Amino acid sequence: MSSVKFYQQENQVPLEMHKVRVVQKLNLLPVEERLHAIQEAGNNTFLLQNKDIYLDMITDSGVNAMSDMQVAAMSIADDSYAGSETWNRAKAAIHEVFGVDNVLPAHQGRAAENILAEAFVKPGSVALMNFHFTTTKAHITRLGGEVVELVHKKGLKPQSDDPFKGDFDLKALNKAIDEYTPERISFVRVEAGTNLIGGQPVSLENMLAVTDICHDKGVISVLDASLLQDNVYFMKTREPRCKYMETKEIYHLLASHFDIIYFSARKLGFSRGGFIISSDPKWTNQMMEFVPLYEGFLTYGGMEVRSIEAAAQGLLESLDMEYISQGPEFIEYLVKELDDYGVPVVKPAGGLGAHLNCSEIVPKLPHDQYPAAAVGAALYIAGGVRGMERGTVSEQREPDGTERFAELELLRLAVPRRVFTLSQIKYCADRVKWVWDNREIIGGLEWTNEPKVLRFFFGRMKEIGYWQEELVKKFRADFGDSL
Ligand code: F0G
Repeated sequence: MSSVKFYQQENQVPLEMHKVRVVQKLNLLPVEERLHAIQEAGNNTFLLQNKDIYLDMITDSGVNAMSDMQVAAMSIADDSYAGSETWNRAKAAIHEVFGVDNVLPAHQGRAAENILAEAFVKPGSVALMNFHFTTTKAHITRLGGEVVELVHKKGLKPQSDDPFKGDFDLKALNKAIDEYTPERISFVRVEAGTNLIGGQPVSLENMLAVTDICHDKGVISVLDASLLQDNVYFMKTREPRCKYMETKEIYHLLASHFDIIYFSARKLGFSRGGFIISSDPKWTNQMMEFVPLYEGFLTYGGMEVRSIEAAAQGLLESLDMEYISQGPEFIEYLVKELDDYGVPVVKPAGGLGAHLNCSEIVPKLPHDQYPAAAVGAALYIAGGVRGMERGTVSEQREPDGTERFAELELLRLAVPRRVFTLSQIKYCADRVKWVWDNREIIGGLEWTNEPKVLRFFFGRMKEIGYWQEELVKKFRADFGDSL
């Protein structure tokens, strides 16, 4: 993206190599109405209405902007239950990007995880991974399996300058395979662009080392490639051996080393849907029977044909550095703006989004007053920006009812790909800085309705005291009649 140098260096910003041709009107409510909206939503950003949101930064999933080529591809979608040309085009795109021919469809990433778990997870088995993702873990534990996380300890340090914080601890991996024994291990899963630790990438060297260990010890290696396009960007820009490799070479190399790759096409592919692929039919054959059972016939798997066409074209675009650099470079810009101002933010910048370290923004708030959710509510009040709580609210209580405190209290500000302009990113940074400067006003939250499962989706909370009204007053004092 920004290999273009600006004449005035001080004005250098990431430069988009695309233009916007379809736009959607946004709405920014007055601050008093924002206060009303977040309170109506039980201080849960998942329960806000899109019409009340100015910048929707809750996720990068299924909300990326499509290219003109994707929209064009959708118009030639071939709708048929079995044997559609659309499916053949998707297979051809996967062959081009990954160099493999064995492909199974699923309606989204977690559906692929369900199939993977059904095929390989048995009661008492163990899945080793750098870090879990919520849906991945749920499918494994539902079937009586256990998840063991082996991310290198550098990954859990919120602020560092390590370029690959998602790396596996290879020593720990070797040891764990020996201790649990290969027979008990359902698979070893590498998550590219490790989501829950801040979209942090895994190096190519580390991924290949993991697959080598798996091959040596006879366990299945799996790559969750949902966030691979950001990860490939980081390999190209942070890992010397990748600098002169074509992006395609990296995708092909990974596909030839991992036994199984799966991904959410809501992220990788700028579309919707999901895929499971392998260079060896042995693996896809073991999973194939679950596709018609849970998803649909093998040539659509629960996906709508237009989404399959868009994903096929989107996958081809995932090879293009001018496209895949946009997300990470905007995120880096946002993280730098915040960091320079002193706002505690996860570093280095990863893919997916910026992650505010709320334990440091509101250090006096205990975990059970939900600091990340409180900062999330404050940021919505401050600017109509919707983030996602990634802290204690996103955990589940222990069986005895006590809270399980999150290791990191993060507020994630996702940057959907090709969607926002740089002025909107600057606006987001501006409002986060205002929240930071007014952090003393922010108070805690308490439950008014706490569901037993997935409380972060449906749960409702209220402010403790009247700090939100206080924040609105301060906003008016600082911004006058501005929205
Ligand atoms: N794997 C990773 C690494 C993910 O980030 C996600 C989704 C999935 C699997 C599941 O894919 O949504 O298509 O079912 N992450 C979204 C997010 C939900 O907002 O981070 P899916």
